[in-house]
Amino acid sequence: MNNKIKVTIIGCGARGIEHAGAYASISDATIWALCDPNLERLKAFPGDIPTERRFADVASLLKNHVPELVHLITPPTVRLAVIKQMLEAGVKAFVIEKPFASSLAEARQIVALCQSHQARFVVNHQLPCMGTFRRSKRLLEDGVIGEIERVRISCNGSPAEQGTHMIDLAGVFLGGLRPQRLLGQIAGAKKLQAAHPSPEWMIGRILCEGGVPVDLVFGDIADPRVDPALFWVGCRLEIFGSKGMIDQSLARGYRIILHNGPMLVDTAYHWGTENDQAQRDFTREALDNFSGKHASLANSGEAALQPIAVLEGLMASAMNNTLENYPVEPIGDLAQSLKERLTK
Ligand SMILES: NC(=O)c1ccc[n+]([C@@H]2O[C@H](COP(=O)([O-])OP(=O)(O)OC[C@H]3O[C@@H](n4cnc5c(N)ncnc54)[C@H](O)[C@@H]3O)[C@@H](O)[C@H]2O)c1
Repeated sequence: MNNKIKVTIIGCGARGIEHAGAYASISDATIWALCDPNLERLKAFPGDIPTERRFADVASLLKNHVPELVHLITPPTVRLAVIKQMLEAGVKAFVIEKPFASSLAEARQIVALCQSHQARFVVNHQLPCMGTFRRSKRLLEDGVIGEIERVRISCNGSPAEQGTHMIDLAGVFLGGLRPQRLLGQIAGAKKLQAAHPSPEWMIGRILCEGGVPVDLVFGDIADPRVDPALFWVGCRLEIFGSKGMIDQSLARGYRIILHNGPMLVDTAYHWGTENDQAQRDFTREALDNFSGKHASLANSGEAALQPIAVLEGLMASAMNNTLENYPVEPIGDLAQSLKERLTK
């Protein structure tokens, strides 16, 4: 027990419980402390963490204990402030839920602060670790659908809720996303005050080096078949190739439709089971990354900026009526600019 990495969970909502669950199968780390101002959640959080290691605020936690590894699973808007406190106290490693900040400006600050404190972080984009995506990616790499001609990503969550998940996933399937120009449209003001402040809807196109465009639709218009109560399973990836297409969603797994051949369907799929497996595998990779056993994860440190930068560039394109060049600069006051644009 003494040699185990001591993990602190900050943010004890449903997702915090899933993060903690991943440690059931990890023998070299253990959940040591919890922190959440919501006392009911703090008390009800499963596991045998004693009351004296369940903290209602970050300052009291830090007075008692400097965590070895923090899982930051709060809403995105409070993360920068919490990370600053943690870094000043000497914390050196973070797993941060997506999107890891609520704007590109904040995301850059987090990267710079972590660099100046010699701290490391990874962003919890676990979808590529799901068995279903690993299986379809293998078939893609085996050439089953031929040369990739176009990619389409969509999600029923808002752009800020699930957009970075999908941009990250497109990058994994393309062997790295190399954006050059961004064209976006946004609409809907009802989510500007939500936990993930966001336009309600976004459509757009990411023009990439090498010529494969990535089209996107984010928001509850994406897949009308998805039950609104289960909006998160609306994440969908379609890859169009010279011989056929992969049509994959969190709700249904994948089917591969070939121009001249049978349809392959991933019948073994159950999203909840595979999401748990993905969280376990992702957590293992993150631990190995922090201990230097695993090459740097794509969504760690500075590399983690790309999905947020692409999302914000698409918003800039929508607000400025321009085709934005990538890399993009942060929008001055993103929240205010979105409000002005969407409530006119
Ligand atoms: N990767 C995924 O597949 C996935 C799935 C679901 C949610 N998420 C992300 O996980 C995050 C949390 O999701 P959730 O559904 O559990 O949200 P939630 O709002 O239910 O829970 C967040 C918790 O953080 C606590 N909190 C707020 N400020 C805090 C602070 N300063 N210090 C400590 N705790 C604080 C809140 O009291 C709350 O209990 C979000 O960013 C969400 O986007 C990711």
